[in-house]
Amino acid sequence: MIKKVGIIGSGTMGSGIAQVAATSGCTVCVYDMNQGALEKSKSNLEKVLSRLVEKGRIDEDEKNRIQGNINYAYKLESIGDADLIIEAIVENLEIKQKVFVQLEGYLSKDAVIASNTSSLSIASIAAACKIPERVIGIHFFNPAPLMKLVEVIPAVQTNPAVLEKVVTTIKNWGKTVAVAKDTPGFIVNRVARPFYGESLRIYEEGLADFATIDHALKSLGGFRMGPFELMDFIGNDVNYTVTETVFTAFYYDPRYKPSFTQKRFSEAGYLGRKSGRGYYDYTEGSVKPIPKEDDALAKTIFDRVLVMLINEAADALFLNIASAEDIDNAMTKGVNYPKGLLAWADEKGIDWCVDALDNLYDEYHEDRYRCSPLLRKMNKENKTFF
Ligand SMILES: NC(=O)c1ccc[n+]([C@@H]2O[C@H](COP(=O)([O-])OP(=O)(O)OC[C@H]3O[C@@H](n4cnc5c(N)ncnc54)[C@H](O)[C@@H]3O)[C@@H](O)[C@H]2O)c1
Repeated sequence: MIKKVGIIGSGTMGSGIAQVAATSGCTVCVYDMNQGALEKSKSNLEKVLSRLVEKGRIDEDEKNRIQGNINYAYKLESIGDADLIIEAIVENLEIKQKVFVQLEGYLSKDAVIASNTSSLSIASIAAACKIPERVIGIHFFNPAPLMKLVEVIPAVQTNPAVLEKVVTTIKNWGKTVAVAKDTPGFIVNRVARPFYGESLRIYEEGLADFATIDHALKSLGGFRMGPFELMDFIGNDVNYTVTETVFTAFYYDPRYKPSFTQKRFSEAGYLGRKSGRGYYDYTEGSVKPIPKEDDALAKTIFDRVLVMLINEAADALFLNIASAEDIDNAMTKGVNYPKGLLAWADEKGIDWCVDALDNLYDEYHEDRYRCSPLLRKMNKENKTFF
């Protein structure tokens, strides 16, 4: 049973994870090499919890209890007595490995070490450790206290008992767990790529502008934000980097090819909301462009993006990245998709999916439109995902 949690890195993710663990009753010690970051984390938590008290979600006692469960430390050895360590520092393999090597010198042999990395392989982080069997990926989404999904990623070295312990713990923290294979992007950052990539491609072909594409996905698909709104929200620099990392890590599979449009927007400093301009203008008084009213065009756009998403989800299942349930949970709980993509495939019909992908492939003769062998097999055998 995990009672003491050590967090390394008190930035956006470390602070959020500390709040989650402390709320569920664990004793938490947060370490950061930057004293200012620790102070900021502490004062942010005070603000977040005060807001929850104002809204009536928790009372003053609960706020004090949560704060009382968290200690802040300026030395790595202070987290040496933790049962579970979650690292959320800068996304750099060498730095993470160095911290893990140092950390192991302070830990009991039964302690579990986890990384919150979004893009590095867990196997490579574990390889730096004396006991690689105790290393695992625990990938929270931002903001950690609000997002329901946590991806848990065992490395090839991870002991199955460690996986079990971590899954139980994260579920006890009130989260939905999706277990993913240690492959680029895990589940969400892999399966979601076409939402951005295919929308950018549609724009680049001149089929529609940003507002029309966004409108199609929202009105016909029920997505809360259109792809361009979402990229502006995430930041074009951040979203572009994830795409490029996934593309490189997949040995340049054309399915994940980044877009020049996004690269140029990023280079131009059109990063999105945070820079006041992205695909849309966020400066005061600016007027949002009106989408084109064309039902047939909207349907073409929506069907194309949806089937590419379904293909990605089906291929993730085909390659045993995760179970069908976990793939669908990951997309509805990690990125708030209105429906699980595999359930959506069942609803549209597997034959519809195969036809739509084959039509795209016939038109373009590009590998990015290749239909997953799993969809093709299911279609032949008249099967559904659920
Ligand atoms: N931000 C997100 O949306 C998000 C989502 C999921 C996962 N992640 C991953 O979580 C990790 C942290 O991301 P973040 O957004 O919280 O970063 P952040 O920049 O907000 O915080 C990182 C913190 O780590 C500290 N730090 C850096 N090097 C350190 C070291 N050697 N020892 C101790 N502390 C150190 C920094 O002082 C900083 O406070 C990354 O691996 C990232 O890929 C981020």
